[in-house]
Amino acid sequence: MVHLTTQENWSEIWFQAIQTAKIIGFVPTMGALHEGHLQLIRASKSSCDLTVVSIFVNPSQFNNSADFDAYPTTLASDLEKLRQENVDVVYTPSVEEIYPESPELRFSFGALETKLEGAFRPGHFNGVGLVVSKLFNIIRPQVAFFGQKDLQQVAIIKRLVKDLSFPIDLVIVPTMREADGLAMSSRNLRLSPMHREASLILINSLNKAKKELIAGKGWFETQQEIVCDFEKSQLAKLEYFELIDPASFEVQTEFNPSVLISICVAAYLGEIRLIDNISINF
Ligand code: PAF
Repeated sequence: MVHLTTQENWSEIWFQAIQTAKIIGFVPTMGALHEGHLQLIRASKSSCDLTVVSIFVNPSQFNNSADFDAYPTTLASDLEKLRQENVDVVYTPSVEEIYPESPELRFSFGALETKLEGAFRPGHFNGVGLVVSKLFNIIRPQVAFFGQKDLQQVAIIKRLVKDLSFPIDLVIVPTMREADGLAMSSRNLRLSPMHREASLILINSLNKAKKELIAGKGWFETQQEIVCDFEKSQLAKLEYFELIDPASFEVQTEFNPSVLISICVAAYLGEIRLIDNISINF
C-alpha cells in the first residue's frame, strides 16, 4: 500500500493507471474506520482496478468546533485495516495541504440544503461540497463510493457531480449496521455504554414508523407518536424525524406508497449527534 501525505507523487501513479486503462475507485473518509467504510472499500476493490482511500477530518464541514476537536482519530489502526483490505493508495493530507488559504468559494445547494442536516448544521454542506470537489480534483477517480447512511450528503454530492460535470460515477452503498441495528458511524466510538444502549431508539423508531405507514397509519400521527417516544426516553434528544423524497429532499406531509420515500432521523445521545434513515419502497 502506498501512503501519500501530499498530492506530489499521486500524479505519477494516476498517469500510469490511466495509460494502462485502469479504473480508479475512490473512497473519501474522515478516518476512524469501521465496517461501513470497509464495505465501501470492498465495493471499490471488486469493481475498480486501483482503490484510493483518503483520510481527512475536514474542518470546514464542522459547524461546531468542539465536535471537530472531539472527532475520533485512529490513524494507526485505520492504516492497518486498509493494509488488510489491500487498498492500493491511502492519502492522508494535512489541513494546510487541502486549505493552503481560507477558501472564498461558497457552495449553495438551494432547497436541498435548507432542511434536516442543512438546517441543523449551517455551513456543513458548503464544507462537504468544498472538500469533495478538492478531493475529486486531486485524485481524479472514475468512480467514487459513498454510504447511504448520509442520505442528504448523497443527494448533495449527486448534485455537485451534475452541476460541475465531474466525470465520475457515484456508487451508493447500503448502510452497515451493528448486530442490534445501530447504523455504523465513527461517532459511535464516543457513546457511553448508557447512551449506546439508548441509541437504539433511532433504528427502532424508523422501523416502527415504517411498519405503521405500511399498515395505513397517517404520517402526522406516526410522527407524533415517535416524538412522544423520544420525549419519554430520558437519554435521547430528537432533532428531526421526517418523511422525505430522497432525490429532492422535499419534506413530505403524507405517505404515498407508489413513490420511493425515506424516513430520516437525527438525535443527540448526550453530546453525540447520530443520524440514520430507512427507505420505504415496494
Ligand atoms: O462522509 C464523510 O465521511 C465526509 O463527509 C466526507 C465525504 C469524507 C467528506 O469529508
